[in-house]
Amino acid sequence: MIGGAGYVGCVLSDALLTRGYRVRVMDNLLYDHFHVAEGLIARPGTSLLVGDLRDAHALGQALDGITDVVLLASLVGDPISRKYPELAKAVNLRGSKALLDALSGRGLRRLVFTSTCSNYGLWEGTEPATESAPLTPLSVYAETKVAFEQAILERRGAIDFHPVILRLSTVFGLSPRMRFDLTVNEFARAIASGVKLDVYDKDTWRPYCHVRDICQAIISVLRAPDEVVSGEIFNVGADENNLTKEQIVEEVLRHVAGDVRFVEGGGDRRNYRVSFAKIRDTLGFRARFGLPAVVPQMVRAIRCGLYRDDAGAPDRYGNYAVRPGIV
Ligand SMILES: NC(=O)c1ccc[n+]([C@@H]2O[C@H](COP(=O)([O-])OP(=O)(O)OC[C@H]3O[C@@H](n4cnc5c(N)ncnc54)[C@H](O)[C@@H]3O)[C@@H](O)[C@H]2O)c1
Repeated sequence: MIGGAGYVGCVLSDALLTRGYRVRVMDNLLYDHFHVAEGLIARPGTSLLVGDLRDAHALGQALDGITDVVLLASLVGDPISRKYPELAKAVNLRGSKALLDALSGRGLRRLVFTSTCSNYGLWEGTEPATESAPLTPLSVYAETKVAFEQAILERRGAIDFHPVILRLSTVFGLSPRMRFDLTVNEFARAIASGVKLDVYDKDTWRPYCHVRDICQAIISVLRAPDEVVSGEIFNVGADENNLTKEQIVEEVLRHVAGDVRFVEGGGDRRNYRVSFAKIRDTLGFRARFGLPAVVPQMVRAIRCGLYRDDAGAPDRYGNYAVRPGIV
């Protein structure tokens, strides 16, 4: 896993180990989230290599003897990519392309690339967007994801492994590397902590998916026959988890009282509902976790003080600023 010490990667490494895989994680711990390293080093079956995917030597070590690659490393999210646009392009696009070039000739079976439903940007179709809907990236983040998807598809005839592109919904739920810069997590934290919350553009839609369901989808893709998934794009999520921001707030307020104000005219123009029929019909994937079951867990975790140490280190729990020295 490249980028395997992040929010999704920490949960995925656990899920893979439980299913009998051995896992090598390469990650440059971009946000100073060294607190996850112990879990990745100490658990039998896992190894951690702290390194940058743009470093050809470190990459060579990370790839030695590997059967499948899950690419999670990116600057993830619109705000962090807007704050560091050159770094976002260097990692999400140029670094990822160099990785793609380094993968052939190794006997690799599969590359799973985690792209994003943000690629749909502003979707005005009457039906939810399928994988063949036109893409409208509205941020540097989504632009780099769309461009790298394109790079994979263009190289299909020239590579000797099977690439698969997964467009993930916005993820929610608990992870050893927590992210509170994600909508559901952010709302749950603010409300459960008694912080006044301004919610912009309450009627905008987006799909959401629990982090464990995301991991299950990635594992389903790793296990599927080559001919079923090779070169394919799948949206990952569940039709019933296409939600407006107001619906998310309502769900959180069902579990804990809070002070929420709805405001119009925010800067994020994204608004899209997405179809998950393809992954359901092709791989039998169904999301198991919805907000009603997960929000109470999150409220308990927040209220018991699990994240109280973030005052001096906010980046531990979100993609807000990269650690000094990373360019
Ligand atoms: N979390 C979501 O809501 C969401 C939604 C859609 C798609 N995705 C995709 O899922 C993947 C994982 O997202 P996440 O939420 O775990 O994000 P994250 O920021 O928590 O994890 C990314 C990891 O990549 C590492 N990384 C960044 N640059 C690197 C580099 N140059 N070399 C090595 N490691 C590097 C970071 O240190 C971090 O651990 C990303 O590809 C993201 O685009 C996530």
